[in-house]
Amino acid sequence: MKILAIETSCDETAVSIVEAEGALENTRFGVLGNALLSQVGVHQRYGGVFPSLAKREHGKNLIPLLQKALSEAKMLREKKKSDVPPQVANILARERELLVEFQKFIPRIAAPDIDAVAVTAGPGLEPALWVGINFAKALSAHWQKPVIPINHMEGHVLSAMLRQNQGGYEFETVPLPLLALLVSGGHTQLVLMRDWLNYEIIGETRDDAVGEAFDKVARMLGLPYPGGPEISKLAESARAEGVAPDVKLPRPMIHDATNDFSFAGLKTAVLYYLKKLPEVTEDIKKKIALEFETAVTDVLVAKTKKALDVHGAKTLALGGGVSANKEIRRIFAETFARDYPHVRLLIPARELTGDNAIMIAAAAHVRLLLHAPAPKATEVVARGNLSL
Ligand code: KG4
Ligand code: ZN
Repeated sequence: MKILAIETSCDETAVSIVEAEGALENTRFGVLGNALLSQVGVHQRYGGVFPSLAKREHGKNLIPLLQKALSEAKMLREKKKSDVPPQVANILARERELLVEFQKFIPRIAAPDIDAVAVTAGPGLEPALWVGINFAKALSAHWQKPVIPINHMEGHVLSAMLRQNQGGYEFETVPLPLLALLVSGGHTQLVLMRDWLNYEIIGETRDDAVGEAFDKVARMLGLPYPGGPEISKLAESARAEGVAPDVKLPRPMIHDATNDFSFAGLKTAVLYYLKKLPEVTEDIKKKIALEFETAVTDVLVAKTKKALDVHGAKTLALGGGVSANKEIRRIFAETFARDYPHVRLLIPARELTGDNAIMIAAAAHVRLLLHAPAPKATEVVARGNLSL
């Protein structure tokens, strides 16, 4: 089964072509083509993602990325140019720039050998989601392939199950129930998966997402967007130099009985601490980064342990942009191997932690294998607040 997957929910534009073979238990998951472009440089001066700019950039990038992915997959075959039928062009009426590029490129190439087009339908920035969805619908109409709308968070859950293997991935099926800790720029959730494609959010942040807190604290320290990797670098050098944190930040809700999180107070604590200082030196930045990262990790570990104890999950999966964090990966690997040796821990490959289309293809693959119902292409819509 070959799937073309598209991801445009935030500031990464991604197109992947994967070939999944075998049953759910032992799928070989080959990446035939993979093209991804980060818009970080475009948004950096705004200190965060600017939705209308994200939409424009996706529109500009999708055709070149599709071309690259098709070419890598050896699916790029020229043919005698024909016209884009008006009903296909109409689908892209609100994506002017994309339509122009679509009309130049698509009629010149033969329909690739794919079984379906998967696309992120939410959650995310709606204008950004619509570009990917309209693109998927236009390709689907032009090539007569079904569209499979995918929940971006399901992609993050499943990304942990893709184990690197000879240049591609192997889809690991794992003992259920699975508990996923999803930590990204927009979400912090504990999700219980009792069965395939069946998710229950058992805990989530009441205010800021973890990634958002990393980004806001980085901004206070004068570090560029996205702040997560910057804070992580500072904290790491503090650790390497043996710098003592000597700043004490709170661990919000760490002893609370629910599975919920709160990170706004942690961010505000950093703000108040900084306000009292006459000067923010590099040394102070390191200390704050170290203590902030440790506080976040402490909370994530404690809350995950509690959820594991209550729900008796057999597998623990991490996912989302923040799961690229070296310290969080290290502490999770250490803690759970020691304290929960019977729980299988899945940490996604670093290239699958941030937004990508491979995880969207993985979700589509599982949906196709399990014959999950899919709407008609014309009924697929963007839903910024889509929940699992
Ligand atoms: O999953 P993702 O790429 O996009 C969303 O769906 O939100 O997550 C992006 C978030 C950003 O807030 C970024 O600062 C954070 O992930 N992030 C990190 C690291 N790398 C990315 N946070 C902490 N440490 C990192 N190494
Ligand atoms: Zn994401």
